[in-house]
Amino acid sequence: MTYLRNAWYAAAFDHEVGDQLLARTLLDQFLVFYRDLDGKPVALADRCPHRFAPLSMGKLVDGVVQCSYHGMRFGSNGACVHNPHGAVPKAAQVPVFPLLERHGLVWIWMGEADKADPALLPDFSAIDDHVKRAPVRGYLRVGCNYQLVTDNLLDLSHVAYLHTLIGNADSSARNSFEMKVEGNTVYAYNRMPAEPLTPLWRMMWNKPSNVGDRRAHMRWDPPSLLSLDIGITECGRPESEGPGAAVAHILTPETKGSTHYFWVFARDTLIDDESLSEKIRVGIDSVFRLEDDPMVTACESRMGGAELMDLKPVMLTTDASAVRARRVLAALIEKEKVTL
Ligand code: FES
Ligand SMILES: [Fe+2]
Repeated sequence: MTYLRNAWYAAAFDHEVGDQLLARTLLDQFLVFYRDLDGKPVALADRCPHRFAPLSMGKLVDGVVQCSYHGMRFGSNGACVHNPHGAVPKAAQVPVFPLLERHGLVWIWMGEADKADPALLPDFSAIDDHVKRAPVRGYLRVGCNYQLVTDNLLDLSHVAYLHTLIGNADSSARNSFEMKVEGNTVYAYNRMPAEPLTPLWRMMWNKPSNVGDRRAHMRWDPPSLLSLDIGITECGRPESEGPGAAVAHILTPETKGSTHYFWVFARDTLIDDESLSEKIRVGIDSVFRLEDDPMVTACESRMGGAELMDLKPVMLTTDASAVRARRVLAALIEKEKVTL
């Protein structure tokens, strides 16, 4: 599988990377993560250059990784710092990857290291705003290709049919969908005027109304970084009045057929209500785990290993944003191939 290399991908939530070795596969590459003695996160290829033992089977000794097979040790720059059997061979070096810690996540750059510019990471500051918001986060490993998960997230029309907590089966007639493109960023806007409240909004909106004007606006940045702005107001009132939430959907390919799905749901209402936070954590996890995941993996299995576009899928107007995002990503990957 060809992936976009020069881009930031989420590797882990910040709390997952600590003083124990964390093995994780990203973009078909075996990696090991840990923090050095200064607390800085480190990512090394998870393969010892001696006999190719997974370094993640070893342990941390004084802040460096010790291979569990013959005891060679490797520092945070990937260089061997100790060979218990003699001089350190010059070739004893493990590939190391630039990392960035931001918005509660550890991000990795798996392309050319000198291009790893933190300014290239899209803005996700809403999800680590702990003053005005109550962020709740979770992780799901999805058993299908990451682009099918992106398609699912940019297609807001499925929400009314597939979901109960966050959708209304009778809402589709009033829904309007719109695509917008700004450079390499693609938006999917979904406006739902005079909409009956969903169970999720009944939990989060302290209003007696049974209806409200709802919105769900998705932003996509390459390779697979999505941010959803949802909100509700009294009918006819400006968006700024109502409560809302920023929901990050951050996808990282594990392999061609599996995806790491990091999500953060940061509501700006009832933020001190911890039992509500727990209900949202369980509810949103169930939406993805029990409704989206089974559907997209079943779709992939019916595709029989073919690429989506090769199957010439019937296109609906609601697919516009997903199709555009696929085109943008394909063009970036193609450009990278030409430059390399
Ligand atoms: S395989 Fe790692 S030291 Fe031998
Ligand atoms: Fe969904």
